[in-house]
Amino acid sequence: MTAIPTPLVLGIETSCDETSAAVIDGDNRILGHIILSQDEHEVFGGVIPELAARAHLQKIDAVVDETLAQAGVRLRDIDLIGATAGPGLIGALLVGVCWAKSAAFGLGRPFVPVHHMEAHLFAPSLEDPEAEPPFVGLLVSGGHTMLLHVPAWGQYRLLGETRDDAAGEAFDKAAKLLGLSYPGGPEIERVARAVRGQRHRLPRPMLKRNQKREDASYYDFSFSGLKTAVVELAAKLDAEGDLEQETPHIAAAFQEAAVDVLATKTMRAVEETGCRRVLLGGGVSANTRLREEIAARLRDGRLFHASTRLSLDNGAMVARAARFRYESAPGDGLAASAGAGLPFPGLIRPSA
Ligand code: KG4
Ligand code: ZN
Repeated sequence: MTAIPTPLVLGIETSCDETSAAVIDGDNRILGHIILSQDEHEVFGGVIPELAARAHLQKIDAVVDETLAQAGVRLRDIDLIGATAGPGLIGALLVGVCWAKSAAFGLGRPFVPVHHMEAHLFAPSLEDPEAEPPFVGLLVSGGHTMLLHVPAWGQYRLLGETRDDAAGEAFDKAAKLLGLSYPGGPEIERVARAVRGQRHRLPRPMLKRNQKREDASYYDFSFSGLKTAVVELAAKLDAEGDLEQETPHIAAAFQEAAVDVLATKTMRAVEETGCRRVLLGGGVSANTRLREEIAARLRDGRLFHASTRLSLDNGAMVARAARFRYESAPGDGLAASAGAGLPFPGLIRPSA
C-alpha cells in the first residue's frame, strides 16, 4: 500500500500522567500542543494507575479541542492520527488509543499505534533538524533505561538496558527517601544545584574499570543498589542528627553517581561504534548535569536533546513518530490495540 500524503498529524499521549495532544504540519512544525500534567497523584507520592486513567478520560476531549484551536485547524482537517499504544499503564493507554481510533474511524483517516520510547527518540528532531541518525541513543525515563545504536530511523540496536529500576524511577525513589516531592528527578536536581563540592560518594552500580565488551554488564545498568546506598547513607546521617542539612548533599551524591554511570556507558558506545553523535531522550534527559557531563566527555562530538518541555512526555513526539511509522508501513491501523508491554519496533537485541 502506498502512503497517502499526511500533512497534518494529530498525536495523542496518555501513557502515564500527562494528557497531551499536538498537531504537526508536513514539515514537522508544531502548530498546536497542549500538555496537561495530572496533579491528582502528588499526595500519593507516585502515579495511581486507576486515577490516571480516569483523569485522562475526563480531560482528553478538552485537551484535543484546545490543541486544534491553537493550531487553527478542525478535527476533519487532520490527515493522520497517532496515539501512544505502549508501554505504559494499560488503563491510561486505552483512553488515548480508543479516542484516537474512534476519531480515525469516524473521519476515515489512518490510525497509527506509537511506541512511547521510539517517540522519545524523535523529540529532539522537532526542535533541531540535525537530530537525525546516525547516533548513539540514551533513553532514560521513569520506566526505561536503554542504550542504543541507531544507524537509521527504525533500526535500534540495543547495547544495554537496566536490569532493575529505570533511571527516572531511581531518581523518584531516592527523592522519596529524602522526603522530596514527586516527581523526584527535578526535585533532586533542584536541591543538588546549591551544593558545591562532593561531601559524600555513592557507589557506581555495574560500573567497573576492568569490564570487557563481551560482558553483558559492560553496557547494562542497575539502579536498585544505588537506592539502597541512599537509604544507608541517610540512616547513618540521621543517627548522627545531620540528615536535614545533609539532604542536598545526598541528593547531589546520588545525581553524580547516576550521571557518571549513564555518561560512562554512553561514551563506551561512542567509542565502540565510532559514532560521535549522541541523542538523549526521555524525562531524565531534562537533567542538566547529565547533559553537561555527556557534552563535556563528547568534546568535538554532537549532543542532541530536546528542550525540557519536549524531553518529558508529550503529544508532539507521538505525532512525529506516527508519521514515520505510517510512511514506513501505510495502513489504517485500526486492528491495533494498546499493550502495557508493547514491543519496541525495530529493536535488535544483542543475541539476535
Ligand atoms: O519520559 P517521562 O516524562 O515519563 C515516562 O515515560 O516515564 O520521564 C519521567 C521521569 C520521572 O522519573 C522523572 O523523575 C524524571 O523523568 N525526570 C528527571 C528530571 N525531570 C524529569 N530526572 C532527573 N532530572 C530531571 N531534571
Ligand atoms: Zn516518557
